[in-house]
Amino acid sequence: MAGRVKFGVEGLDEMLLGGLLEGSICAIVGTYGTGKTMFALQFAYAGLKQGEKVIYISLEEREELLRATIAQKGWDPEVVGDRLYLLRLDPTDFNLAISSIKCELPALIKSFGASRVIIDPISLFEGLFVDDAVRRQEMFGFVEMMRDEACTLVLTSETNTANPEESRYGLAEYLGDTVILLHRVRSPGLTEVHQALEVVKMRRSAHSHEIKPFEIFQDRIRVYSEASLF
Ligand SMILES: Nc1ncnc2c1ncn2[C@@H]1O[C@H](COP(=O)(O)OP(=O)(O)OP(=O)(O)O)[C@@H](O)[C@H]1O
Ligand SMILES: [Mg+2]
Repeated sequence: MAGRVKFGVEGLDEMLLGGLLEGSICAIVGTYGTGKTMFALQFAYAGLKQGEKVIYISLEEREELLRATIAQKGWDPEVVGDRLYLLRLDPTDFNLAISSIKCELPALIKSFGASRVIIDPISLFEGLFVDDAVRRQEMFGFVEMMRDEACTLVLTSETNTANPEESRYGLAEYLGDTVILLHRVRSPGLTEVHQALEVVKMRRSAHSHEIKPFEIFQDRIRVYSEASLF
């Protein structure tokens, strides 16, 4: 029976009944600005704080910007040390992105000894495949390959423009063992916008089925698992 890997977000680990299953794949799906990168970074830091090694692949933000965000969050440089491998991939360079993610990542995970890997956002990588059938086949192949690695994988995904509750290509929900959906919810009087999340699915585990509000602070995220949305 696989152990649990703490996501490191207060309130979310309770909803996941202790955390993600070790070695599993988690998809965080949300539209722009809903906090995907913040959740992914928090997952990374939770590992670093436990002495784990973490690979963070960003297809979106430049390394300097990510480092600036990390500095703003007040991550302890001693905790980060040389245990964080930040890799920025240019999402327009098809060949480089494919070779880095498909061919080099498994070897890097082994040589670096990473137990947490993040790809933010996977939807920019998926978008490199023009053909739907090829994309599907490539992504399922990639995830199968990642299952052989001794690491827990977090993928973030942008949403479908027509449906903000669905990932951009409709694949992340099937690729992930766990799917966390980030919502923006307007209050009944439309005067406020709340951030909320739900654990849509979790293979091989029970989990909370409720939508819970969360808040992003400079240095952490808090999910109010005891509260209800309105
Ligand atoms: N220091 C901070 N203090 C409070 N809230 C913050 C802080 N930094 C970011 N946020 C909140 O987090 C949101 C951005 O989160 P994040 O960058 O993780 O979103 P994202 O889902 O990755 O967006 P995108 O799809 O554009 O990459 C901001 O819109 C803001 O509401
Ligand atoms: Mg982001």
